Amino acid sequence: MEWGMKNRFSRIMNAQSGNCVMLAVDHGYFQGPTTGLENLGKTVEPLLPYADALMITRGALRNWIPAEMNKPIVLRVSGGQSILKELSNEIITTSIEDAIRINASAITCSVFVGSENEKETIGNLARIVNEGETYGIPVLAVTAVGKEMVRDARYLGLACRICVEMGAHMVKTYYCQDFPKIVKACGNIPVVIAGGKKIEEKAALEMAYNAIQDGAAGVDMGRNVFQSDNPVGMMKAVQAIVHEKATVAKALKIYKPSAK
Ligand code: 5RP
Repeated sequence: MEWGMKNRFSRIMNAQSGNCVMLAVDHGYFQGPTTGLENLGKTVEPLLPYADALMITRGALRNWIPAEMNKPIVLRVSGGQSILKELSNEIITTSIEDAIRINASAITCSVFVGSENEKETIGNLARIVNEGETYGIPVLAVTAVGKEMVRDARYLGLACRICVEMGAHMVKTYYCQDFPKIVKACGNIPVVIAGGKKIEEKAALEMAYNAIQDGAAGVDMGRNVFQSDNPVGMMKAVQAIVHEKATVAKALKIYKPSAK
């Protein structure tokens, strides 16, 4: 890895654990004012001290996040569709020049393997990897579930491996049974998990714990943090799992000291 890329990458990964707790707040790019993100700045501010990086769009960043903030930005540069239409119909929305202007530590786009626009979204990833390699900016590939695809290790392993082969420097996917197969398929490329739809806190913490045990390099979570009844508690609990390998029982106590 070239020096600049290595330097940006090391801002995202925690030096002690080698893992990463990324806070994802980019949901509005396809689903509008997501519950919990209506006033994005107010939601993010108390969570930032416990995040290693913030995944966000340029518009949200410029609107709601003060430039004095010193956490690394993982900038979403794809979009162009909404929940009302075919989700895989993405284009690259943000130029590499704007990512550099923003001082992004990484750039990211979604890849919809098996979907109507599979080729275009793999092409989007290849394009931003080319740009990232030119300017020393790492690329996070987000693997999303294609039409009629199940979230199992076979499909997600296929999708993640394609992202790795395209040159992604980090991959984000869903946790599933046989997760170690996905990690293995990605070789030396770190794999982080998305949280997905809001589930019960205990289940979300179990998922994070199992992912770390199975070789994930961290989480890139959104709704299970900011839609929790105690978002700061959840961030601290997830951080303990990812960086200190805390048990679920310990993490639950961190999330809510009164929880069983
Ligand atoms: C959408 C994304 C989101 O950032 C991702 O889904 C993470 O958020 P959540 O934990 O809420 O699923 O990449 O494509």
